[in-house]
Amino acid sequence: MAYLLNPLDSILVLLPALAANGAPVLLRYKGTPIDRGLVLRDGRPLLGPGKTWEGLIIGFLYGSTVALFLAALVCSPIIFYGGVLAALGALLGDMLGAFIKRRIGLERGAPAPVLDQLDFYSGALYMLYSAHLVLNPWIILGFAPVVMALHRATNTAAHKLRLKPVPW
Ligand code: CTP
Ligand code: MG
Repeated sequence: MAYLLNPLDSILVLLPALAANGAPVLLRYKGTPIDRGLVLRDGRPLLGPGKTWEGLIIGFLYGSTVALFLAALVCSPIIFYGGVLAALGALLGDMLGAFIKRRIGLERGAPAPVLDQLDFYSGALYMLYSAHLVLNPWIILGFAPVVMALHRATNTAAHKLRLKPVPW
């Protein structure tokens, strides 16, 4: 049976996805690549060096911590459950985005407008949907431009703080 989340709860489960996606950049470009340098037949990496185990773990822990905090704030276990799923989905969506970027020939860190901003958001939504947690459709739509703007702003900030070599 599907569980319908009201608008506020829909926002609360999405916030950990944003946190999970933003956290790995704090690694300052170091870590063990998930694809271990594997190159596919097209001569390009499976995912590339920008997707690391450390990034995955830090993102997941950070997203889950935010989920725990928000769940405690509103005393709702479903917010924790949904937030953890959304964090995981965001990280997997970002990996799928990197896979697609490599297949179309874009180097690690090359900008892919829309894909860069919405890969993790779609991943989070997909994961929640698979777990039968249905978000408010207006929040899903309304949050998309917010996610894009936030992604842009945080990446510019990370670039200024010298955490990232490019501002996207
Ligand atoms: N990162 C990581 N592990 C992950 C995700 C991200 O280590 N699973 C780190 C990498 O240092 C990455 C940075 O966070 O460069 C920013 O993430 P993102 O913008 O998604 O990566 P890009 O550098 O744009 O690389 P790609 O083109 O592969 O998406
Ligand atoms: Mg990305």
